[in-house]
Amino acid sequence: MNRVKAKNSTATIKRVSSQAELVQALTIRILVFVREQGVPAEIELDTDDQRAIHFLAIKLAKAVGTARVVMRRGDAKIGRMAVLKSYRRKGIGAALLKRAILSAKRLHARRIYLHAQVAVIGFYQRMGFRAVGRVFDEAGIAHRKMILRGE
Ligand SMILES: CC(C)(COP(=O)(O)OP(=O)(O)OC[C@H]1O[C@@H](n2cnc3c(N)ncnc32)[C@H](O)[C@@H]1OP(=O)(O)O)[C@@H](O)C(=O)NCCC(=O)NCCS
Repeated sequence: MNRVKAKNSTATIKRVSSQAELVQALTIRILVFVREQGVPAEIELDTDDQRAIHFLAIKLAKAVGTARVVMRRGDAKIGRMAVLKSYRRKGIGAALLKRAILSAKRLHARRIYLHAQVAVIGFYQRMGFRAVGRVFDEAGIAHRKMILRGE
């Protein structure tokens, strides 16, 4: 199992490898995107979930964050990055994103990209992504495409 430590914390990142862990990941997304941000559940959970690689951030045996990687025509799309509200700004999102990037590289992704909510573009910029193109609406939230530099 490949684990990446989050800075200043006991959180570890693990790849989802069971149905029970997938349920934990989807539960975090329901809490963050559906309950907190108002995204409709039928948009939040999609068919890509069946083929994606999912990750969980675990802190003191509790699942507190998630992300997924989906391959699309040779490119890797990172998405559904979510950390429970009271665990944010502790390096957990950064650790999840690093693990997702590593996974995409291992899959020989040509490009690594994501659709960033405009409010968190700064988070992804710190992690090496650059915004491209116009702002667009996705699930009622303003987004921008971002691509990992040097890819
Ligand atoms: C976006 C999100 C995953 C970030 O997770 P996090 O655990 O809080 O992020 P980290 O603590 O690892 O932050 C890493 C760096 O990004 C910065 N950062 C975090 N959130 C940021 C934000 N909203 N805007 C700008 N910078 C931000 C941190 O300050 C930190 O910088 P540093 O390394 O210089 O200290 C989290 O805020 C979240 O789940 N938000 C709600 C869901 C969401 O919007 N997901 C993104 C969908 S595109």
